[in-house]
Amino acid sequence: MKNLKDKKILLIICGGISAYKSLETIRIFKKNNCEIKTILTKSAKEFITPLSVVSLSQGKVYDDLFNLENETEMDHISLSRWADIILIEPATANTISKLARGSSEDLATTVILASNKPIFLVPAMNVRMWEHPSTKENLRILKKYSYQIIGPEIGEMACGEYGKGKMTEPLLIANKIDEYFSHLKKNRKLKALVTAGPTNEYIDPVRFITNKSSGKQGYEIARSLHKNGFQTTLISGPTNLEIDENIELIKVETAEEMFKATQKNLPVDVAIFSAAVSDFKINKKYNIKIKKKDELIIKLEKNLDILDYVSNHNSMRPKLVIGFAAETNNIEKNSLLKLSNKNCDWIITNDVSKKEIGFNSDLNEVTIYYKNNKKEKLSKKNKSLISDEIVSRINHLIN
Ligand code: PMT
Repeated sequence: MKNLKDKKILLIICGGISAYKSLETIRIFKKNNCEIKTILTKSAKEFITPLSVVSLSQGKVYDDLFNLENETEMDHISLSRWADIILIEPATANTISKLARGSSEDLATTVILASNKPIFLVPAMNVRMWEHPSTKENLRILKKYSYQIIGPEIGEMACGEYGKGKMTEPLLIANKIDEYFSHLKKNRKLKALVTAGPTNEYIDPVRFITNKSSGKQGYEIARSLHKNGFQTTLISGPTNLEIDENIELIKVETAEEMFKATQKNLPVDVAIFSAAVSDFKINKKYNIKIKKKDELIIKLEKNLDILDYVSNHNSMRPKLVIGFAAETNNIEKNSLLKLSNKNCDWIITNDVSKKEIGFNSDLNEVTIYYKNNKKEKLSKKNKSLISDEIVSRINHLIN
């Protein structure tokens, strides 16, 4: 595990029967030269003692939000800023529920709520608790907030029942964290560009042709790329969305402006074109507001295809070019045509005849068509999760 050296890990141990396994997690992280600070929840102390945690971690154990010594030495904000990642294990059904509600009733939940760091959650609970709709709903919310979930596994539990809910073994957890840092290290050297949102093509100074794209899918992809270490530039048409300040945001309005901004930001390693760029612009834009008349004929002309330009660039074609396709019919045929005509490595298609996904929805369901004739369906879920799944595939390909 080469990537754990000198990493700062804030381990939050909750009160579950698997809490004792956290001692093994600490041992593995220490062996791999991590720095560890630990928070023990009140109920965790029913299962393991602060003394055993201190002995193994050789670091301080924090346990009380209103402890003067804790707060003067390192307050709950500094504690979350100190860490490279926060690892919560075992994450009980109760903790998961509190986190989904944004609770800040003790040190653990307050630190997590105040955190701006990647959070890894290692659930462990009885199979019925795991399968309960409220736990599922809470996890859906946390995934939407970009929490990364490790496990649980299937097996025999401490209560004697069998099923899914067993905590992932510490060595596997450490391997997952090591893999995360490995991607982060490699990706930090890589540049990614994402286009998102609609374009406005002006007819006169106040009227334009546009479409229903909200930008949500592209913004989530940019977020996910950034979370995975990529230096990310987001070129966005008009949207009401906000993005983290570490992502370079370039706001444009027309397809022509989007094209120029893209051109200016080459070369990149990965380019993802999720924008719904208008295929046409007005042939001759009126400089003054058009007056009401019986008939108005507007002539359209083709816009430059940004994706096509980038994917066929002689010297600056990115290693990976991904296009999107919004289709309503002949989905596979049209997707494969776009894949080859636009010289993409992947085309990600959403069937926008389905009302609950695609344009201006929080959900999406996509099929990825790869250049090697393979295809893969990502089932309906939040756009942030679709983005994580796409970026995880980019990670594996690029690294
Ligand atoms: O923004 P949301 O509300 O979240 O919705 C997401 C989405 C439905 C807009 C998105 O998932 C999507 O499908 N984007 C592509 C929409 C589209 O209209 O595709 P297209 O078939 O017209 O274009 C194919 C590809 O070429 C796209 O990658 C597009 O960005 C690119 N293109 C198209 C025309 C053009 N002039 N320049 C381009 O780069």
